[in-house]
Amino acid sequence: MAPQVPDPSNAPAYAAKCRHSKPRHFSQGIHDRDRCPLLPVTDGFCETIFLTTKNQEQSWHMAGYSGSNYVLGRSDQETTRLQNQAQFYNSFTRWIFQQAGIRDGMKVLDIGSGAGDVSLLAAELVGPEGCVVGVDINSDVLEIARRRAKATGLNNVRFQAGDIRDIDLADDFDAVVGRLVLMYQDDPVAGVRKAINHLKSGGIVVFEELDARIPVLADPPSPILDAAIRWVWAVFEKSGARTRMGLNLYKTFQAAGLPAPTMQLFTPVGGGSDWAGYDLLADTLRSLLPKIMEYGIASADEVDIDSFAERFRNEFVRTGSVSNLPAHVGAWAIKP
Ligand SMILES: C[S@@+](CC[C@H](N)C(=O)[O-])C[C@H]1O[C@@H](n2cnc3c(N)ncnc32)[C@H](O)[C@@H]1O
Repeated sequence: MAPQVPDPSNAPAYAAKCRHSKPRHFSQGIHDRDRCPLLPVTDGFCETIFLTTKNQEQSWHMAGYSGSNYVLGRSDQETTRLQNQAQFYNSFTRWIFQQAGIRDGMKVLDIGSGAGDVSLLAAELVGPEGCVVGVDINSDVLEIARRRAKATGLNNVRFQAGDIRDIDLADDFDAVVGRLVLMYQDDPVAGVRKAINHLKSGGIVVFEELDARIPVLADPPSPILDAAIRWVWAVFEKSGARTRMGLNLYKTFQAAGLPAPTMQLFTPVGGGSDWAGYDLLADTLRSLLPKIMEYGIASADEVDIDSFAERFRNEFVRTGSVSNLPAHVGAWAIKP
């Protein structure tokens, strides 16, 4: 369901209803009561009214993801998959945030926040004196993110629907972060440029993206894994998603006017009967299955999605295989 879009010209009327009201710069989309434009996650009304602009209204009602290639879809299954995937990569994300210098009291913008995993992680790092704004083009997934923030008791994070390419936000963030979002943009350099417009000089930029050049390999080899990875990369590439975004962060940062970033690589590894990697790959295939079939990459029978996780697990247990999962590259720099 599309969120209700209040008319910005009614700002004073809305403000009168909100117990946090002092919106001096309504057009910036930011409640500037103090440096952190935060509102309790329980107060959805206030969240909405101060964060809406004409631009955002257009984004909310935009048909599809014109100019961004999010091929995994918008299903509930995909939202759950994102949260499961986060369990594999959050430790790395936290580590690169800390290396980059994200700390207590900072105001962080998370672009392509999805179900909120990165925003929630950043909210823990910046603590109650800091704040995090998560932005995603998919307003439905933000409802999940808001519920999760509420459930964790984090009051320093809020979520705003919008497209990173034209969203109206403040320009005094201490850090801009994003995980697995540039790979879906037609023009990642423009995406980074737009994102860092919201960052103050001396602010921190951190992106984490996958890179298909770094092999996903099993030892002993696994035909099931090999086929699945081949299908996943094929559908991403066919859709226009950038499967080599990870290492390309180096040139993307510089083309966007940033210094050469510091970079690190991470890939989860596992095997044995209890590894959650089997289910993660099966869920990824499930999200991609409509496109796998549409693009003629494999048939439903070949993928056999309902038995995939079990077959994958059985093969690994039988052969004693261990493998990695898609590698993520983290890159960070300081805005001059
Ligand atoms: C793979 S998900 C990653 C979510 C989250 N960063 C994480 O790592 O769990 C990518 C997200 O980026 C969002 N997205 C893609 N293009 C976008 C754009 N141009 N503006 C805002 N969000 C975008 C998608 O809707 C999706 O929720």
